[in-house]
Amino acid sequence: MSCIQIKGGRPFRGEVLIQGSKNAALPIMAACVLVPGVTVLQNCPDISDVDCMCQILRCVGVEIRRQEDVLFLDASCITSHCLPEEYVTRMRSSVILTGAMLGRCREISLYYPGGCVIGDRPIDLHLRALEKLGACFAANGRSLTATAPALTGSRIRLPFPSVGATENVILAAVAAKGTTYVDGCATEPEIVALCEFLKGAGAKIGGIGSGSLVIEGTKRLSESCYRVEPDRIVAGTYLLGTLAAGGDVFLRGAPQSQMESVLEVSRRMGAELVLQKEGIRVVRTGELAGVGSIRTGVYPGFPTDLQSPMLVALCRATGESRLTETIFNGRLAVAAELNRMGAGIRVEGSDAYLSGPRQLTGCSVTARELRGGAALVLAGACARGMTKIENRQFIDRGYEDIVRDLQSLGVDIGDKTGF
Ligand code: EPZ
Repeated sequence: MSCIQIKGGRPFRGEVLIQGSKNAALPIMAACVLVPGVTVLQNCPDISDVDCMCQILRCVGVEIRRQEDVLFLDASCITSHCLPEEYVTRMRSSVILTGAMLGRCREISLYYPGGCVIGDRPIDLHLRALEKLGACFAANGRSLTATAPALTGSRIRLPFPSVGATENVILAAVAAKGTTYVDGCATEPEIVALCEFLKGAGAKIGGIGSGSLVIEGTKRLSESCYRVEPDRIVAGTYLLGTLAAGGDVFLRGAPQSQMESVLEVSRRMGAELVLQKEGIRVVRTGELAGVGSIRTGVYPGFPTDLQSPMLVALCRATGESRLTETIFNGRLAVAAELNRMGAGIRVEGSDAYLSGPRQLTGCSVTARELRGGAALVLAGACARGMTKIENRQFIDRGYEDIVRDLQSLGVDIGDKTGF
């Protein structure tokens, strides 16, 4: 197992290039199944979730090769509709292959998806929506088989703007006969990216970016090239780290138009933000102020994926703060590890209460999921003394190289393998 070691206490200073977006790349990789040819994906992040998706796609016949940050995916021949248990159960987003595989070959066998232990992660919204398009599901224990003799356009209303369910519906509707009207869609930037990719391959989608999409079934999608946008959550992670540790950082490529909620709360906390074409400069030299009350929400609300990094910034802020998690019921679990470092977070149900500033003290902590693991790294960078973070592999699911990135910001951080 590999772990990360950090000697904390230095402000973040320097520039970091923001990687391609994990949550944009994964659904677009699934969408490649709908293209009987080669798709070129530029700026594709080199992270383990992308590797996992590559393994799954290879198992159904997609030929994939990587050349630096470019992925070439050739889905000319789909040779199987059975997804491998080993990879599917490792990653939640494997479920979005359902819509794509039904769209391409009208059947799929998969397993209930795994993923982070951040709370309940049912797929009922996915299944009900796909059934409206003509899919039939048969569950047998942990595995699930779906068939769709005919996919027919329909009117669908999602009771909750689930990102994954929205993606699954889009992927199946693109290949359905007729027009599909979807209301109650998620509007995250990653949904927009998926729609823009599909349009570039010949799909006809209206209402992009809104909660209501109109998708006209398309007989055949064509080969295309698409550049994955920078990752707003990685950019937000390093922005909040700079607030917590103090310093002066340039986030090159940060997608500022997708980060309004994070930028707004950072200003409230006392950060100086300079928005430039090439990225965001964030400066925090004076006192960090608490925010009173903040809650996570669906886009454009404060992203749940930045809730854990925000806990670190809030414990370093002066005054009382309350952070309410409204999306995943297990995502505040990381507070227990942060409290071992002296964060003083009180959790009551979905509310976290903080009173700062707190001086964090380094110690050995354990990452149990992706964004909580990243938060532990930020806490280590702020703490007095040494912090050792076990289970680096969770963090590598979504960050290309958090050690490299923070070293470029002057943090005394390294990794140790073989623990
Ligand atoms: C996507 O997960 C992201 N993952 C998550 O990022 C992100 O936190 C989440 O959207 C919310 O923005 C990817 O894009 C790969 P949801 P997803 O379906 O699609 C409930 C990260 O750290 N729900 O919008 O799984 C669910 O339990 C990851 O990068 C149902 O009840 O999120 C949750 O409470 C973590 N039934 C809420 O909806 C369903 O069928 C939001 O889930 C589906 C979801």
